[in-house]
Amino acid sequence: MQKNSLKTGTPESWSKRDEQLVWHPFSPLVGEGPIMIEKGEGPYLFTPDGRKIIDAISSWWVNIHGHGRKEIAEAIAAQAMKLEQVIFAGFTHEPAVKLAEGLQEILPKAHSKIFFSDNGSTSVEVGLKMALQFWHNIGQKRTRIVAMEGAYHGDTFGAMAVGDRGAFSEPFHPYLFEVDFIPYPAGHNDEEVIEAFRKLAKSGEIAAFIFEPLLQGSAGMRAYPPALLDILMQICQENDIITIADEVMTGFGRTGKIFATDYLDHAPDIICMSKGITGGFLPLGVTSCSGHIEDAFRTSDKSKTFYHGHSYTANPLACAAAVASLDILLSEQCTRDRLRIYHQHELFAERMRDHSKVSRVRHLGTVVAFEVNTPEQTGYMNKVRDTLYKEFMDRDVLLRPLGNVVYILPPYVISNEDLDKVYNAVEEVLEKI
Ligand SMILES: Cc1ncc(COP(=O)(O)O)c(C=O)c1O
Repeated sequence: MQKNSLKTGTPESWSKRDEQLVWHPFSPLVGEGPIMIEKGEGPYLFTPDGRKIIDAISSWWVNIHGHGRKEIAEAIAAQAMKLEQVIFAGFTHEPAVKLAEGLQEILPKAHSKIFFSDNGSTSVEVGLKMALQFWHNIGQKRTRIVAMEGAYHGDTFGAMAVGDRGAFSEPFHPYLFEVDFIPYPAGHNDEEVIEAFRKLAKSGEIAAFIFEPLLQGSAGMRAYPPALLDILMQICQENDIITIADEVMTGFGRTGKIFATDYLDHAPDIICMSKGITGGFLPLGVTSCSGHIEDAFRTSDKSKTFYHGHSYTANPLACAAAVASLDILLSEQCTRDRLRIYHQHELFAERMRDHSKVSRVRHLGTVVAFEVNTPEQTGYMNKVRDTLYKEFMDRDVLLRPLGNVVYILPPYVISNEDLDKVYNAVEEVLEKI
């Protein structure tokens, strides 16, 4: 038998075969096909026909240390030679324990348990289910969840339910459980947000409040201040509402601190993590919780067990990658790099604030974003998005605007020179459109 029966071919033939068979995420089935990538190194993606593309969005926010990071690749290889997978119910392994201990060092002190899953959406599902079962286990009827308008927490049903209702979720609306949404804190409506929240909190029915701390990613990198979130957290504390911070995008240094909730005075009860956790090498989700939550499950009464799990829960390779990624994240070099990017972004943000074609410039840690002024209403479906994406790609810069929102979210290894190439591409494209 042939060792490898896959047909080889030219980049064009690969693309053709992809187009015939492969269904890509968030992509219409008609229109331009995908670009073949052969290799990744640092901030670059290489195509078979010689293009070198700067990945200025860390490949959907996951490759925090860039591509092909040797330390992570080696950690995975070493682990693969020992143990690639074992059922995680009734068994454990070194990388899982090491990672749990490593995470405990950077999580709020009260966090005592780490639950593993596979991606951001599942880390959110776990957080929601933990919170709801907490109330069930202690025999109190609290069944409602509060979320923020504009939120995005993933694509599984629970995660979709607590996300903003829009075109993406429309076909599924009849199947999503009811959620109380508070207005997004847009800067001019703090009192309205706080009052809406206080009113819901006082109902005594709220089990949990879930939020993307300080930065709503998919809604267009919208930033809101820690002081406002602290007020909401305080209301939760006063009304025994469980707080769930979705740090899937903001975690692991993205906003300047290790977690965005590190900017707050109040620590969340549950934290959802994924994306950057393995440095982009392997899928992994993690949900941590405080001892207070854990206590409601710590019983020999089997009806109170958390009956949730995935086949690949705590996959040893993913855990080994995450341990290696965490070491890099906490290194002096990486800390310096994040600060350097922050300063570079700030200089760029200043230029953008004076630019006549853009508005609402925001900058938090290693993320900088702004809106391109268009006659059309803002939003994900804004037509300028496709033009911008193509123009950036024509300049070998991967930026994936969210509607008319352009954001730069680079791997921490990107050099100042490459950052300048990205900024220049943005400024050139703004001149052109
Ligand atoms: C804040 C937030 N939560 C959850 C998710 C879902 O993560 P995943 O795509 O890994 O399921 C995302 C993805 O963009 C996200 O930004």
